[in-house]
Amino acid sequence: MDSKIKKLQDRIAQAHLGGGEKRIEKQHAKNKLTARERIEYLLDEGSFEEMGILVTHRTTDFGMDKEIYFGDGVVTGYGTINGRLVYVYAQDFTVFGGALSETHAEKICKVMDLAMKVGAPVIGLNDSGGARIQEGVKSLGGYADIFYRNVQASGVIPQISAIMGPCAGGAVYSPAMTDFIIMVEQTSYMFVTGPNVVKTVTNEEVTSEELGGASTHATKSGVAHKTSPNDAACLEDIKKLLEYLPQNNRETAKKLQYELGDEIREQLRNIVPDNPNKPYDMHAVIEGIIDGESFYEIHKEYAENIIVGFARLAGRSIGVIANQPMFLAGVLGVKSSTKAARFTRFCDAFNIPLLVLVDVPGFLPGTDQEWNGIINHGAKLLYALSEATVPRVTVITRKAYGGAYDVMNSKHIGADFNFAWPTAEIAVMGAKGASEIIFRREIAAAEDPEAKLKEKEAEYAEKFANPYRAARRGFIDEVILPENTRRKLIKAFAMLEKKKVKPPKKKHGNIPL
Ligand code: COA
Repeated sequence: MDSKIKKLQDRIAQAHLGGGEKRIEKQHAKNKLTARERIEYLLDEGSFEEMGILVTHRTTDFGMDKEIYFGDGVVTGYGTINGRLVYVYAQDFTVFGGALSETHAEKICKVMDLAMKVGAPVIGLNDSGGARIQEGVKSLGGYADIFYRNVQASGVIPQISAIMGPCAGGAVYSPAMTDFIIMVEQTSYMFVTGPNVVKTVTNEEVTSEELGGASTHATKSGVAHKTSPNDAACLEDIKKLLEYLPQNNRETAKKLQYELGDEIREQLRNIVPDNPNKPYDMHAVIEGIIDGESFYEIHKEYAENIIVGFARLAGRSIGVIANQPMFLAGVLGVKSSTKAARFTRFCDAFNIPLLVLVDVPGFLPGTDQEWNGIINHGAKLLYALSEATVPRVTVITRKAYGGAYDVMNSKHIGADFNFAWPTAEIAVMGAKGASEIIFRREIAAAEDPEAKLKEKEAEYAEKFANPYRAARRGFIDEVILPENTRRKLIKAFAMLEKKKVKPPKKKHGNIPL
């Protein structure tokens, strides 16, 4: 019996060593934790239960039958984060560079299948040289098995991907189909084709970091939802994100205990400047509404003209979408529309109510936007919000002009409660632009056209640059004092808690892609 126990213990010890001490040292020298260290850091102490630690690959080509590592380059299993069940897999770069083999893929699929049956999030810690080159198509099949499961799980259980090393070629498409990608700065990169292939095909010289580093994907492509300075910070970010999410699409996110007070926030009163063309930071409005420092921003450095993120309101997890007048006056553009649409769909899929804060002068004009399909991209946000059945509440702080008024969670597209501040301007366009069109002849015929334009502008502004026309028609449910916003929103979301909408029966809609 003793020898049999020893055999098991030896195998487990070997598995724990991954690709060996030397490779572990190399991993540490790159400022990276190993797969096991990452899992240990991520999960509650002692909660990890590993599955498939004794799995090995089945390849015999290229002398692979002599290179066997228990676990085959990926650590998989389940555990808890703050007491909540999660499934996790962490690729082990010390074993064949974390490259994905047939068996490595099978291990990932196994935890994904369990996560779907049980209804709990899957967290993937990616650190891999891609398809296991010695295996060829078997490895490619393994990827596709994972992709297929990513799609089946989409909208059923939250899927979070951390990129903590290389993620190249086909490997990028699993994270791409999950809900959130968090990249570690300097030590991770993602691209479909690496710098060498780029050089051969397009003659462009580019480093891995420039082509697909964390900063590139957080600012230019939007592929990364968040970046973290190191492995530990990335794992902390995952834990924090998870707090706002439910376990699956049949549940709602946990509500924290909250004692209601008067909830008046005086600091909101003077945020909107008197001059309608002067920007202000919408973050200050968000901070003034939500609980403490609960804002968890998504895509912080991407398409900054719109802000999206999770927050708590009287302990309840909500999604916030807000125009940002500090960037491009808060217009809707190709990137900002897509960013907000994707966030909307995540919140809707996982029963997270939406708060939409509006200060939008319209859509961004120009050939760049039109040729890049602002029509389609703007339609995504319109579609996503119209389709969302979660509680939806709007606050118009200032501008709500033109088509963008409709898009930004207007009453007409199914919002449940629409507030406006007294500073709101709900109109087809700004007073100057409107006057130049409708009073063109009158202005041209005037002795002093400049003065006439000013006069007409003031006349138009007086009539339309306010929330009252919309309130008279019931498009706005209530015009409120800014300092009362938090109190009003707490009550509105509490009132909407049991909201149920039955969408028309269909296979699926056809969102403009
Ligand atoms: N298949 C099999 N083994 C792989 C691998 C792959 N796709 N990628 C890396 N490895 C192995 C390496 O052979 C090396 O093995 P060793 O420890 O026995 O020497 C180990 O993983 C580490 O790789 P190394 O190249 O030394 O690490 P690095 O940090 O310098 O570079 C990469 C990392 C990912 C840039 C580099 O390994 C690479 O370009 N890999 C191939 C990527 C690829 O083309 N994948 C297939 C297409 S999806």
